[in-house]
Amino acid sequence: MPESVSITDNRTGKSTEIPITDGGVDSGPWSRLLPGIWFSDPSFGTTSGADSAVTEVDGDKGYLRYRGYPIEQLAEECSFLEVAYLLITGELPNGDQLEGWQTEIAEAALIHENFHKRILEGFRDDAHATGVLVSTVAALSTFFPESRDIQDPANRRRQIVRLIAKMPTLAASAYRRSVGTPYVLPDPELDYTENFLSMMFRPGEVAFEADPVLRQALDLLFVLHADHGQNCSTTAGRVVGSSHADPYLAVSAACAALSGPRHGGANEAVLRMLEEIGSYDKVDEFIRAVKAGERRLMGFGHRVYKNYDPRARIIKEAAHRVFEVTGKNPLLDMALKLEEVALADDYFVDRRLYPNVDFYSGLIYQSMGFPVEMFTVLFAIGRTPGWLAHWDEMLEQNSRIARPRQIYIGPAERDVPLIAHR
Ligand code: CMC
Repeated sequence: MPESVSITDNRTGKSTEIPITDGGVDSGPWSRLLPGIWFSDPSFGTTSGADSAVTEVDGDKGYLRYRGYPIEQLAEECSFLEVAYLLITGELPNGDQLEGWQTEIAEAALIHENFHKRILEGFRDDAHATGVLVSTVAALSTFFPESRDIQDPANRRRQIVRLIAKMPTLAASAYRRSVGTPYVLPDPELDYTENFLSMMFRPGEVAFEADPVLRQALDLLFVLHADHGQNCSTTAGRVVGSSHADPYLAVSAACAALSGPRHGGANEAVLRMLEEIGSYDKVDEFIRAVKAGERRLMGFGHRVYKNYDPRARIIKEAAHRVFEVTGKNPLLDMALKLEEVALADDYFVDRRLYPNVDFYSGLIYQSMGFPVEMFTVLFAIGRTPGWLAHWDEMLEQNSRIARPRQIYIGPAERDVPLIAHR
């Protein structure tokens, strides 16, 4: 049986055979056979936008692998910075490489004092943290104009280090500003996640020590969020990067795409949904509204996973460890009941809807003391190495600018009437 597909243009009787390579077919022969006929796929549901060696997701089998390594093993064995190194370089670091990488990141964590003195001060007091992050990541572009030289791999790597290093500083600074407490500068003596927790929660000059269980759980959440193939935000970052914009602007675009409730904003939406449902006995009523198409069960469903999101399973286990330290999140019982009811209901079973990464993550973040507005920002910190690995890979491949076609459905040519006749 040939590993190929054949397409025939019934208007002309001409045919073309296209080989199936790595599970895909090249669009070149299609467009040569059918000039001016576009493949219509507005949500990219069946379109591959990249040849990528970073992450493999199989939605039917329910697995996720970074550079070939199963997410379960990475979650068990590796810190977030090890995983970031893996995503960026393709291999896990040895001891010396990890030490060097941690030092590089720690030394790049400071942000220019204008962020604290001027830029952050310009936002409204109730500014949402995600909007602040999108803006401040974009502002980094103006502090590092050399980042525009995207052809030089060494220069690209410098910006990658800066971005991974500065995301927690920008995030914690946005939070500190929103609550009106003095900014805490990064401490190079602390590890990545501990340093972030210190910048977030250290009360002034008083010493701060993160609870090891909570520090580990947050680091694990960063690992689980670190990449997910060609998702909406990664694609947004790649599209912007394909115009050869600098990486700060590309990552800012990725953060913006992440913010929506269908994507990374879902973790915030789940918490708001649980608070709105209000009590255990209202769950059935809410599920009825979802099935009637009046509501959406946030934290459920995925374009790719039609089995179970492997990240959700790991997060659910981590939640129990966190609650042993913080006490049980009062919303947990409602979330568990929602999951139980939904998994037994034909509406969800038929559509293959399961809890995704965002269903339980918000409960953990909230129990750790993060305000709801910070949830998507935490997702962004975790996803930054993934965005950058894809951006770097795309430039390494010397790809063309992203420029989809459209199916035009507007009016045919017509004459502009004089204003008196409109
Ligand atoms: N609640 C109720 N019905 C749903 C849901 C949901 N959460 N998700 C999908 N459906 C239904 C949808 O109405 C449709 O039904 P029908 O065939 O009768 O019209 C069917 O399931 C297929 O859904 P779809 O909208 O075509 O699926 P999609 O692949 O376009 O959307 C999604 C994927 C994640 C945007 C969607 O499932 C959703 O909105 N989920 C809630 C938001 C959420 O949790 N997002 C986080 C995703 S995981 C983390 C990340 O990637 O950021």
